[in-house]
Amino acid sequence: MTAKIIAVANQKGGSGKTTISMHLAGAFCRRGNKVLVVDADVQATATRWAASANDEEPFPASVTGLSAAEGKVHREVKKFVNDYDWIIIDCPPAADSPVPKSALLIADLGIIPVIPSPPDLWAAIGIREVIEHCLVFNEQLQTRIVVNQLQSNTNVAREVSELLPEYNIPVFETRIGMRTVYRQAAGIGSTVHALGYDAKTAILEIETLTDEVCALFEGGPQ
Ligand SMILES: Nc1ncnc2c1ncn2[C@@H]1O[C@H](COP(=O)(O)OP(=O)(O)OP(=O)(O)O)[C@@H](O)[C@H]1O
Ligand SMILES: [Mg+2]
Repeated sequence: MTAKIIAVANQKGGSGKTTISMHLAGAFCRRGNKVLVVDADVQATATRWAASANDEEPFPASVTGLSAAEGKVHREVKKFVNDYDWIIIDCPPAADSPVPKSALLIADLGIIPVIPSPPDLWAAIGIREVIEHCLVFNEQLQTRIVVNQLQSNTNVAREVSELLPEYNIPVFETRIGMRTVYRQAAGIGSTVHALGYDAKTAILEIETLTDEVCALFEGGPQ
Protein backbone atom coordinates (compact mmCIF):
# COMPACT_ATOMS: atom_id res chain seq x y z
CA MET A 1 0.00 0.00 0.00
CA THR A 2 1.06 3.58 -0.53
CA ALA A 3 -0.51 5.97 1.93
CA LYS A 4 -2.38 9.00 0.76
CA ILE A 5 -1.07 11.95 2.73
CA ILE A 6 -3.22 14.76 4.09
CA ALA A 7 -1.70 17.85 5.72
CA VAL A 8 -4.08 19.80 7.96
CA ALA A 9 -2.66 23.31 8.22
CA ASN A 10 -3.47 26.91 9.02
CA GLN A 11 -1.15 29.39 10.76
CA LYS A 12 -4.10 30.69 12.70
CA GLY A 13 -4.31 28.96 16.08
CA GLY A 14 -7.45 27.22 17.23
CA SER A 15 -9.12 26.89 13.84
CA GLY A 16 -9.73 23.17 14.32
CA LYS A 17 -6.68 21.47 12.77
CA THR A 18 -6.40 18.84 15.48
CA THR A 19 -10.17 18.29 15.72
CA ILE A 20 -10.43 17.73 11.96
CA SER A 21 -7.28 15.56 11.88
CA MET A 22 -8.49 13.25 14.63
CA HIS A 23 -12.01 12.98 13.24
CA LEU A 24 -10.88 12.17 9.72
CA ALA A 25 -8.47 9.61 11.17
CA GLY A 26 -11.24 8.02 13.23
CA ALA A 27 -13.67 7.98 10.30
CA PHE A 28 -11.11 6.35 7.98
CA CYS A 29 -10.40 3.68 10.60
CA ARG A 30 -14.12 2.93 10.92
CA ARG A 31 -14.11 2.29 7.17
CA GLY A 32 -11.43 -0.36 7.61
CA ASN A 33 -8.35 1.71 6.78
CA LYS A 34 -5.00 1.74 8.53
CA VAL A 35 -4.30 5.32 9.58
CA LEU A 36 -1.37 7.21 11.08
CA VAL A 37 -1.75 10.67 12.60
CA VAL A 38 1.52 12.58 12.59
CA ASP A 39 1.48 15.04 15.47
CA ALA A 40 3.80 17.72 14.12
CA ASP A 41 2.89 20.26 16.80
CA VAL A 42 5.00 20.77 19.96
CA GLN A 43 1.76 21.38 21.85
CA ALA A 44 1.18 17.62 21.27
CA THR A 45 -2.61 18.01 21.28
CA ALA A 46 -3.21 15.01 19.00
CA THR A 47 -0.96 12.86 21.18
CA ARG A 48 -2.81 13.92 24.33
CA TRP A 49 -6.14 13.38 22.62
CA ALA A 50 -5.26 9.76 21.84
CA ALA A 51 -3.79 9.30 25.33
CA SER A 52 -7.15 10.34 26.85
CA ALA A 53 -8.77 7.15 25.58
CA ASN A 54 -9.46 4.36 28.03
CA ASP A 55 -7.63 1.06 27.74
CA GLU A 56 -10.69 -0.88 26.53
CA GLU A 57 -11.25 1.46 23.60
CA PRO A 58 -7.98 2.98 22.41
CA PHE A 59 -8.04 5.68 19.76
CA PRO A 60 -8.40 3.72 16.49
CA ALA A 61 -5.50 5.35 14.60
CA SER A 62 -1.82 5.32 15.52
CA VAL A 63 -0.45 8.70 16.59
CA THR A 64 3.24 9.52 16.36
CA GLY A 65 4.95 12.71 17.54
CA LEU A 66 7.20 14.25 14.92
CA SER A 67 7.35 17.89 16.02
CA ALA A 68 11.09 17.62 16.56
CA ALA A 69 11.58 16.95 12.83
CA GLU A 70 10.52 20.56 12.10
CA GLY A 71 11.33 21.33 8.43
CA LYS A 72 12.27 17.69 7.80
CA VAL A 73 8.79 16.30 8.49
CA HIS A 74 8.46 15.31 4.83
CA ARG A 75 11.51 13.02 5.09
CA GLU A 76 10.29 11.38 8.29
CA VAL A 77 6.76 10.85 6.98
CA LYS A 78 8.06 9.15 3.83
CA LYS A 79 9.33 6.30 6.02
CA PHE A 80 5.73 5.36 6.87
CA VAL A 81 4.08 5.47 3.44
CA ASN A 82 4.20 1.73 2.85
CA ASP A 83 2.60 0.87 6.18
CA TYR A 84 -0.64 2.88 6.11
CA ASP A 85 -3.62 3.69 3.88
CA TRP A 86 -3.80 7.28 5.11
CA ILE A 87 -1.31 9.56 6.87
CA ILE A 88 -2.73 12.73 8.38
CA ILE A 89 -0.28 15.42 9.45
CA ASP A 90 -1.62 17.74 12.16
CA CYS A 91 0.44 20.93 11.72
CA PRO A 92 1.29 23.55 14.35
CA PRO A 93 -0.21 27.04 14.11
CA ALA A 94 2.85 29.32 14.10
CA ALA A 95 3.28 31.43 10.97
CA ASP A 96 7.08 31.09 11.15
CA SER A 97 7.05 27.30 11.59
CA PRO A 98 8.71 25.32 8.77
CA VAL A 99 6.35 22.38 9.39
CA PRO A 100 3.35 23.28 7.17
CA LYS A 101 5.65 23.94 4.21
CA SER A 102 7.42 20.64 4.79
CA ALA A 103 4.14 18.72 5.21
CA LEU A 104 2.58 20.26 2.10
CA LEU A 105 5.64 19.26 0.08
CA ILE A 106 4.70 15.59 0.33
CA ALA A 107 0.93 15.87 0.83
CA ASP A 108 -1.63 14.74 -1.73
CA LEU A 109 -4.20 16.99 -0.09
CA GLY A 110 -3.91 20.08 2.12
CA ILE A 111 -6.96 20.80 4.27
CA ILE A 112 -7.26 24.30 5.72
CA PRO A 113 -9.82 24.58 8.53
CA VAL A 114 -11.14 28.12 8.94
CA ILE A 115 -13.48 29.63 11.48
CA PRO A 116 -16.01 31.74 9.62
CA SER A 117 -15.37 35.11 11.18
CA PRO A 118 -13.64 37.92 9.30
CA PRO A 119 -10.64 38.30 11.70
CA ASP A 120 -9.94 34.56 11.51
CA LEU A 121 -10.11 34.66 7.76
CA TRP A 122 -7.78 37.64 7.52
CA ALA A 123 -5.26 35.93 9.75
CA ALA A 124 -5.37 32.73 7.75
CA ILE A 125 -4.81 34.20 4.32
CA GLY A 126 -1.03 33.66 4.67
CA ILE A 127 -1.49 29.95 4.07
CA ARG A 128 -2.16 30.71 0.41
CA GLU A 129 1.43 31.86 -0.03
CA VAL A 130 2.72 28.65 1.56
CA ILE A 131 0.53 26.57 -0.76
CA GLU A 132 1.68 28.47 -3.83
CA HIS A 133 5.30 27.87 -2.85
CA CYS A 134 4.67 24.14 -2.35
CA LEU A 135 2.83 23.76 -5.66
CA VAL A 136 6.07 24.57 -7.47
CA PHE A 137 7.63 21.39 -6.07
CA ASN A 138 4.51 19.30 -5.53
CA GLU A 139 2.31 19.64 -8.58
CA GLN A 140 -0.13 16.94 -7.49
CA LEU A 141 -1.07 18.85 -4.31
CA GLN A 142 -4.79 19.45 -4.01
CA THR A 143 -6.12 21.92 -1.44
CA ARG A 144 -9.47 22.48 0.20
CA ILE A 145 -10.80 24.84 2.86
CA VAL A 146 -13.15 23.34 5.42
CA VAL A 147 -15.39 25.73 7.31
CA ASN A 148 -15.33 24.79 10.99
CA GLN A 149 -17.24 26.01 14.05
CA LEU A 150 -20.01 27.39 11.87
CA GLN A 151 -22.97 29.04 13.57
CA SER A 152 -25.13 29.04 10.51
CA ASN A 153 -27.88 31.32 11.67
CA THR A 154 -25.60 34.33 11.94
CA ASN A 155 -25.03 37.07 9.41
CA VAL A 156 -21.30 36.48 9.79
CA ALA A 157 -21.70 33.12 8.08
CA ARG A 158 -23.12 34.84 5.05
CA GLU A 159 -20.44 37.53 4.98
CA VAL A 160 -17.79 34.86 5.21
CA SER A 161 -19.14 32.93 2.26
CA GLU A 162 -18.46 36.10 0.32
CA LEU A 163 -14.91 36.38 1.69
CA LEU A 164 -13.92 32.77 1.02
CA PRO A 165 -13.49 33.14 -2.77
CA GLU A 166 -10.58 35.51 -2.02
CA TYR A 167 -8.56 32.53 -0.92
CA ASN A 168 -8.58 30.95 -4.37
CA ILE A 169 -8.79 27.58 -2.65
CA PRO A 170 -11.86 25.39 -3.25
CA VAL A 171 -14.15 24.90 -0.26
CA PHE A 172 -15.56 21.55 0.87
CA GLU A 173 -19.34 21.52 0.67
CA THR A 174 -19.52 19.96 4.13
CA ARG A 175 -19.41 22.55 6.87
CA ILE A 176 -18.62 21.60 10.43
CA GLY A 177 -20.88 23.22 12.99
CA MET A 178 -19.92 24.62 16.39
CA ARG A 179 -20.97 21.71 18.61
CA THR A 180 -20.07 20.73 22.15
CA VAL A 181 -19.68 17.08 21.13
CA TYR A 182 -16.47 17.93 19.25
CA ARG A 183 -14.94 19.15 22.52
CA GLN A 184 -16.25 16.15 24.41
CA ALA A 185 -14.69 13.81 21.87
CA ALA A 186 -11.22 15.13 22.72
CA GLY A 187 -11.82 14.61 26.43
CA ILE A 188 -12.65 10.93 25.97
CA GLY A 189 -9.89 10.30 23.44
CA SER A 190 -12.33 9.34 20.72
CA THR A 191 -14.46 10.89 18.00
CA VAL A 192 -18.06 12.09 17.95
CA HIS A 193 -19.00 8.58 16.78
CA ALA A 194 -18.62 7.42 20.38
CA LEU A 195 -21.16 9.95 21.68
CA GLY A 196 -24.30 8.36 20.33
CA TYR A 197 -27.58 10.06 19.59
CA ASP A 198 -26.53 13.51 20.90
CA ALA A 199 -23.82 13.58 18.27
CA LYS A 200 -25.85 12.42 15.30
CA THR A 201 -25.57 15.70 13.34
CA ALA A 202 -21.83 15.88 14.03
CA ILE A 203 -21.37 12.26 12.97
CA LEU A 204 -23.13 13.03 9.69
CA GLU A 205 -20.88 16.07 9.14
CA ILE A 206 -17.74 14.00 9.65
CA GLU A 207 -18.99 11.17 7.43
CA THR A 208 -19.88 13.51 4.56
CA LEU A 209 -16.54 15.30 4.91
CA THR A 210 -14.80 11.92 4.76
CA ASP A 211 -16.82 11.04 1.64
CA GLU A 212 -15.70 14.30 0.05
CA VAL A 213 -12.05 13.58 0.87
CA CYS A 214 -12.30 10.06 -0.57
CA ALA A 215 -13.98 11.37 -3.71
CA LEU A 216 -10.90 13.51 -4.42
CA PHE A 217 -8.85 10.35 -4.82
CA GLU A 218 -9.06 7.69 -7.45
CA GLY A 219 -11.82 5.21 -6.83
CA GLY A 220 -14.18 7.70 -5.18
CA PRO A 221 -15.78 7.14 -1.77
CA GLN A 222 -14.54 4.11 0.18
N1 LIG B 1 -16.62 22.28 15.40
C1 LIG B 1 -16.31 22.57 16.66
N2 LIG B 1 -17.26 22.80 17.59
C2 LIG B 1 -16.94 23.12 18.87
N3 LIG B 1 -15.69 23.25 19.32
C3 LIG B 1 -14.69 23.04 18.44
C4 LIG B 1 -14.92 22.68 17.09
N4 LIG B 1 -13.72 22.54 16.46
C5 LIG B 1 -12.78 22.78 17.38
N5 LIG B 1 -13.35 23.09 18.58
C6 LIG B 1 -12.65 23.44 19.83
O1 LIG B 1 -11.87 24.60 19.57
C7 LIG B 1 -10.60 24.50 20.19
C8 LIG B 1 -9.49 24.53 19.13
O2 LIG B 1 -9.63 23.39 18.31
P1 LIG B 1 -8.36 22.57 17.80
O3 LIG B 1 -7.45 22.27 18.94
O4 LIG B 1 -8.84 21.47 16.95
O5 LIG B 1 -7.69 23.70 16.88
P2 LIG B 1 -6.20 23.75 16.31
O6 LIG B 1 -6.28 24.50 15.03
O7 LIG B 1 -5.62 22.40 16.26
O8 LIG B 1 -5.47 24.61 17.43
P3 LIG B 1 -3.89 24.92 17.51
O9 LIG B 1 -3.64 25.95 16.46
O10 LIG B 1 -3.68 25.40 18.90
O11 LIG B 1 -3.19 23.62 17.20
C9 LIG B 1 -10.63 23.22 20.99
O12 LIG B 1 -11.06 23.51 22.29
C10 LIG B 1 -11.68 22.36 20.26
O13 LIG B 1 -12.30 21.43 21.11
MG1 LIG C 1 -3.82 21.67 17.03
